[in-house]
Amino acid sequence: MTRLGVNVDHVATVRQARMIDIPDPVEAALLAEQAGAEVITVHLREDRRHIQEQDVARLRQRLTAALNLEMAGTPEMTRQALTLKPDDACLVPERREELTTEGGLDVVAHAKQLRDVVSRLRDAGIRVSLFVDPDLKQLEASREMGADAVEIHTGSYANAGGARLERELEAVRRGAALAAGMGLEVHGGHGLNAANVAPIAAIGEIVELNIGHSIVARSIMVGMVQAVTEMKALIAEADRTGH
Ligand code: PXP
Repeated sequence: MTRLGVNVDHVATVRQARMIDIPDPVEAALLAEQAGAEVITVHLREDRRHIQEQDVARLRQRLTAALNLEMAGTPEMTRQALTLKPDDACLVPERREELTTEGGLDVVAHAKQLRDVVSRLRDAGIRVSLFVDPDLKQLEASREMGADAVEIHTGSYANAGGARLERELEAVRRGAALAAGMGLEVHGGHGLNAANVAPIAAIGEIVELNIGHSIVARSIMVGMVQAVTEMKALIAEADRTGH
């Protein structure tokens, strides 16, 4: 059964629009958990545009679901992770001017820096995944530096249309098979929504999907419990039927 990680960053985005204390991403996370989310994911960005340290600390105290911290592989964020003690950390590339994470990590180019971060987090008992494009060299470098998992970037698939869609899906499938063959746990995420999640959830090697924007957007219309329940049902159906 593919696990669902619900990313509640954009609940905090709405809060930060007014710099007050509602809506509370922790409350949203507890509702997502109540609806069956196995993982709650937050990205503590360097510019703190949505999630704040205090949110992560409160999630750490109150969640039963696993807490997955998305973070840049920098010394500051490594210190934060070692203090906040999430169950999982997902290392992502981060640029201040981007609207959202725009591409996978270049694990090959930043191998030296990332290897050190991976080993410090793992030594503290935090499981580490690396957010990468489904590229053989990136997957090999991820395994080589001791990551527990990779999260395959599904953004290119999510943005594709027409003939490109099938090619991008095939690339995710191939990447997932390669990663699992190397002994890495395989996750997926970025740009997934009710209309495009099924083919990704049906990939047998992918055991966790992290979904944020589309679930938070839907929750504005129907509430968080209903939004998560709907996504869980789509994933369960794809798991069951294989498509
Ligand atoms: N996985 C990773 C590594 C991400 O950086 C993000 C965006 O924060 C997501 C998943 C969720 O993407 P989306 O909000 O498009 O569902």
